[in-house]
Amino acid sequence: MDTMKERGSDTHESAGFHVTGEAVYIDDIAPPPGLLVGRVCYSPHARARILNIGLEAARALPGVHAVLCHRDIPGENQMGPVIHDELCLAAGEVQCVGQAVVLIAAGDDETARRAESLLSIEYEVLEPVLDIDTAIRKNSLLGPERTMRRGEPETTLRSASHVIRGELRTGAQEHWYLESQTCLCVPGEGREVTAFSSTQHPSETQAIIAEVLGLPVHDVVVEVRRLGGGFGGKETQANHVAAWASLLCAATRHPVKIRLFRDDDMIMTGKRHRFLIRYEAGFDDNGLLLGVRFELNSDGGIASDLSFAIMERAMLHADNAYYVPHMSVVARVWRTNLPSNTAMRGFGGPQAMAAMETVIDRIARELGVDAAEIRKRNFYGTVDRNVTHYGQTVENNRLHALYNRLFVSSEYEARRMAVEAFNAAHEFVKRGLALTPVKFGISFTTTFLNKAGALVHIYRDGSILVSHGGTEMGQGLHTKIRQIAAREFGVGIDAVRVSATNTSDVPNTSATAASSGTDLNGGAVRDATATLKSRIASSLAGYFNADPFESILPGSAHDEMTAPGDIEFADGIIFDRKHTLRRISFASAMDLMILRQVSLSATGFYSVPGIAWDKEKGWGRPFNYYAFGVGATEVEVDMLSGSHTILRTDILYDAGDSLNPAIDIGQIEGGYVQGLGWCTTEEILWDGKGNLLTHSPDTYKIPAVRDVPADFRVALLEGHPNPNAILGSKAVAEPPFMLALSAWLAIKDAVSAVGRHRFEPDFQIPATNEVIVFSAARIGTMADKVHA
Ligand code: MTE
Ligand code: HPA
Ligand code: MOS
Repeated sequence: MDTMKERGSDTHESAGFHVTGEAVYIDDIAPPPGLLVGRVCYSPHARARILNIGLEAARALPGVHAVLCHRDIPGENQMGPVIHDELCLAAGEVQCVGQAVVLIAAGDDETARRAESLLSIEYEVLEPVLDIDTAIRKNSLLGPERTMRRGEPETTLRSASHVIRGELRTGAQEHWYLESQTCLCVPGEGREVTAFSSTQHPSETQAIIAEVLGLPVHDVVVEVRRLGGGFGGKETQANHVAAWASLLCAATRHPVKIRLFRDDDMIMTGKRHRFLIRYEAGFDDNGLLLGVRFELNSDGGIASDLSFAIMERAMLHADNAYYVPHMSVVARVWRTNLPSNTAMRGFGGPQAMAAMETVIDRIARELGVDAAEIRKRNFYGTVDRNVTHYGQTVENNRLHALYNRLFVSSEYEARRMAVEAFNAAHEFVKRGLALTPVKFGISFTTTFLNKAGALVHIYRDGSILVSHGGTEMGQGLHTKIRQIAAREFGVGIDAVRVSATNTSDVPNTSATAASSGTDLNGGAVRDATATLKSRIASSLAGYFNADPFESILPGSAHDEMTAPGDIEFADGIIFDRKHTLRRISFASAMDLMILRQVSLSATGFYSVPGIAWDKEKGWGRPFNYYAFGVGATEVEVDMLSGSHTILRTDILYDAGDSLNPAIDIGQIEGGYVQGLGWCTTEEILWDGKGNLLTHSPDTYKIPAVRDVPADFRVALLEGHPNPNAILGSKAVAEPPFMLALSAWLAIKDAVSAVGRHRFEPDFQIPATNEVIVFSAARIGTMADKVHA
């Protein structure tokens, strides 16, 4: 069993290919004969009536193979993933800048561009809605309001001795996957098409291609070797490029590739939802939360996409790690004339948790108590105070263990004193420190999605090929799956290869999302291996018990027969655990299985047990389990320029019995740094007409090497296997993103030091240099007035 326990010995299965450049992304696939370039011509207006679409001149240009608009779609003009409210190609009205209107296929990019310049599309420009405030004023809702509540927050707030109220705005965020949205679509026989897509959700991409082409799903194959990053941005929106490529492919009967230019990708695709959150919180003299009311407003963009699932996760994470006896969360998704916003790491969790952390931070400032102490006091309990506002009991609560350890290992107390001493000695440069927790529910909140399939083949030489429904986007899913299969068969990882994800191997899958890729697909792979092992064991028991066998293995006197249940798989051999001389190498056994006519191919399936979620009532057990982590960040901020440096970050994360500590630590570091970007420098701006101003890396600042904490200490909590997922492991992926709130609050702490923590800094996400400078200046002025 423990052969795979040399933890951390398994590097990412593609690491070598990443380094040498051999890793095949869509754009690296050798061009098939007749390959055409696909170009997407999009709306230059945020909202306009389409008066005329003239395609003739573009169609007449030599080298142009197809020019398509909504009238040329053979199937349905739809690509909404959950609700059918997003057109594949605009018709009637364009609703945002970047909305696709016309598709062009040409022999080369230059010709496609020239063809685009020959289009004659006439618009009558209309008034757009470009932000949440305007949407609220115009009552431009995307769907019905939702509420979750427990107890009597209104009554509690009326009687609480302390009450705070406020508003928090959180910004959008670009996914910045290194591989932009790309799809290569190749025609087959008849109507058959195969799409090589950079998608997190091959089955949905397949379904949407079938829908726009008017084909049965079995005519469409989607294959994904790997993505150059997804981060949620390819959970639904990879479908768009795939649908467009498939339309051009079907119209021309040529292979067509669409690879969005970076700026176009940023202009056309949705981002993390902006939120406007209003809160009201009542607490006692000890800083214990009594009642909280949240109003969550998100900017959905032009269509639903995943906005309602994202809002639901936000509602379910407005408590973060804290017990709130009386709580209500009201949520509204607003329609604006911007590209439909979509999944991004954390999926609504970061926005809601930022609001709750703001509440805690303010309580600490009001009471003059260290915020870490207020956090600890409000943590969910282990025996009581342990039920969330939606009725799920917080089981296997690791918050206290994590907090207590990190508090010591990060030298929090000593560094708090050092920060205070530093701040007393410096007028314009201040330091700040914050320690924040994360509790994140693991499962799709859309309950039926919590399932996965697998297909495992063993070949005659003992080599194993595993297919499963998950996609590899850099997160190391295939590496972990390989480890799981190797461990189940008792062979080395070199004996296992994971195939490209293909809808013909494993059908009807869920997106690789919600941090659950390994839990779900690992479960399905284990199910398939169990089927194979039991077939092999039955046949081998017969083989071991057969008469001729006795003469082959001297000393194995048949006083007892081998039962299939006695057979074990370990260290590359298969053996009877009671008669260890009855043994055969894994590879020889597979050769034998061929001769004994045993099928060495099996499917597997897994669905998460024990989830019960009543969406209507907002009550139940939506999550299989919770992931926990804590992070402490120290920063230094120059109040005159607003620039900041992360001096040190300590993170302790509960990954259960980590399947691969190297990969898990990489995910924690990456998640935290991506969160850092959202909290600090990544600011998305549109002009008054809905044009994205920040559409390239020169205006949109993602963290670079120098923005990563200079001293970065990430550790995993040891000795706490997770009873609810494969081999005691626990999801990593998204939760560490939210530990970056410790950096955000550390910056706020530094700004607060300008007024000796007597005034509340006016903070939002991202805390850009401007936010810092204005906030510090305001506090400085207030402090001066008090002095005067
Ligand atoms: N890590 C890398 N390198 N690239 C990615 O695109 N996506 C994140 C996370 N980590 C991502 C990543 C997101 S949003 C999710 S939901 C998970 O990986 C998905 O994979 P998993 O469920 O297998 O962890
Ligand atoms: N996370 C990610 N994607 C999803 C979810 C979720 O909770 N629910 C539906 N799609
Ligand atoms: Mo991740 S946002 O669930 O793809």
